[in-house]
Amino acid sequence: MTDEMLKERIIVALDTADLRFAKRLVRELKDVIKIFKIGSEFFTAHGPKAVRAIKDLGAEVFLDLKYHDIPNTVAHAVQAATRLGVFMFNVHVPGGLQMMQEACIAAVDEAKKLNMTPPKLIGVTLLTSLSQKEVTNQIGIAKPINDIVLHYAELAQKAGLDGIVASAKEVEKIRAKFGPQFLIITPGIRPTWAEKGDQERVTTPRQAFELGASYIVIGRPITEAKDPLEAASRVFEEL
Ligand code: C5P
Repeated sequence: MTDEMLKERIIVALDTADLRFAKRLVRELKDVIKIFKIGSEFFTAHGPKAVRAIKDLGAEVFLDLKYHDIPNTVAHAVQAATRLGVFMFNVHVPGGLQMMQEACIAAVDEAKKLNMTPPKLIGVTLLTSLSQKEVTNQIGIAKPINDIVLHYAELAQKAGLDGIVASAKEVEKIRAKFGPQFLIITPGIRPTWAEKGDQERVTTPRQAFELGASYIVIGRPITEAKDPLEAASRVFEEL
């Protein structure tokens, strides 16, 4: 992949409540990174202003708020996200087929009204923080995690979602089953030179793309580096 292609495929996670720090990171990185992920920490602290601030700097936003509510409520949240002009956002697949379908319709309809490109809609299957024991004993699903993830991915595709978030462990199977157009967003990425931090099973950027990821999400190895631009360049070199 060329640097121009990589610029569109590496998403940097802005996991901070510090708006000035986030803006500084975007300013430093925007020539090499196009998409920045805003999660609940940043959005709860700063709301739509956070999205506008990133977009005003010329970058795109992946709004990682993982909507999970009744179809009507999610559809209205999706309209609001679309009006904000986010590039990508996500919903929890266990919210159900109807909820996901209404989310897709809301995004497309709202974008049409505003004459803009609809955001990409991504499904969150099972949180990778959950162990098999927790899924079986606490949540009460007596199936192997891998099977649940594949089943949820199928449901997401059926609902019309553009893709799902999946750990590198699951990417290969999902890519094989759902074809080249289905988007797979993969976090838990650590370049060869980076600290693992609290991520248990990590994958290098190169491995993730080789397994079939469409986008990779990288946070701390870039955002906490002394020189984030240099860290991003090192990721590019690895690829
Ligand atoms: O700093 P780090 O590279 O670990 O950040 C990864 C980002 O991806 C964080 O925003 C984290 O919440 C998110 N994420 C993850 N694992 C998942 C889903 C999302 O690390 N399974």
